[in-house]
Amino acid sequence: MLKGRSLVEPEDFTLDEMEVLFSLAEKIEKDQKYLRESCRGKLLASLFFEPSTRTRLSFEAAMLRLGGNCLGFAEPGSSSASKGESLADTIRMAASYADAIVMRNPKEGAALLASRYSSVPVINAGDGGHHHPTQTLTDLLSIKRLLGKIDNLTIGFCGDLKFGRTVHSLTKALSRYENIKMIFISPSELVLPEYIKGILKNKNIEFSERENLEKSMPELDVLYMTRVQRERFFNEDDYIRLKDTYVLNTEKMAVGKESLIVLHPLPRVNEISIEVDSDKRAAYFAQAKYGMYVRMALLSSVLGVI
Ligand code: CP
Repeated sequence: MLKGRSLVEPEDFTLDEMEVLFSLAEKIEKDQKYLRESCRGKLLASLFFEPSTRTRLSFEAAMLRLGGNCLGFAEPGSSSASKGESLADTIRMAASYADAIVMRNPKEGAALLASRYSSVPVINAGDGGHHHPTQTLTDLLSIKRLLGKIDNLTIGFCGDLKFGRTVHSLTKALSRYENIKMIFISPSELVLPEYIKGILKNKNIEFSERENLEKSMPELDVLYMTRVQRERFFNEDDYIRLKDTYVLNTEKMAVGKESLIVLHPLPRVNEISIEVDSDKRAAYFAQAKYGMYVRMALLSSVLGVI
């Protein structure tokens, strides 16, 4: 079904296709031997033009666990991009060496461009402040595994909603589920872009924008914390002024539901106090692990071995 397909933004896959990936990821998680050698002989090109820990390592771990191999670079300085090679040419080369490409790039639209020049599937591992669809698969799988459903939930997004590509992707993806209410908590300088709000309005999704996290806590089924994206600010003074606007601590957790789950795409800086890590509702490290399973499901599907 997904064989040969690229994933540039969350809506490239239907809800049914995502559901198949979630079921496959759960199967892989339960039976670690399942699909273990399915990608033997296959190569994944991992092209990271921006720093990453989770996305790059979980994709590479996923490919190695499936019996395949990886090649690539973790920063652009070690590729011929530093000599002026165009992205289109880099992608043509990688597609001639590998069976699939996973790419992170600081420019919005880079993944779409890459998918147009590639003869093999391109998976967007983040394009600037635009999209991060495999983080969205990770987030949705985490919600499903931890709460047993994705419909009928109130989800709070807190932090840098302007530059946070994980928020943009997840918001769009959640707008396809039933009876979802979203609460966007940010300083006025970091509110959700108008184009995303437009999508929500067109779909009649109930949402509100606020500045106070603590007052919103009791309403939430899911709290999605985000870091302020220093690398996307034009001005360091603005970053310093805004970076610690929200710090989730035990006092704020105390007014949250017993059934709340706290997600964060990570890396965190100061926005979740480490004392929260021991709260059973803190799910961000489990979330990162689900990311590897869903990427195994994705790779085996686009490579057509399942
Ligand atoms: N969530 C995420 O994209 O993390 P990395 O930047 O470490 O890949």
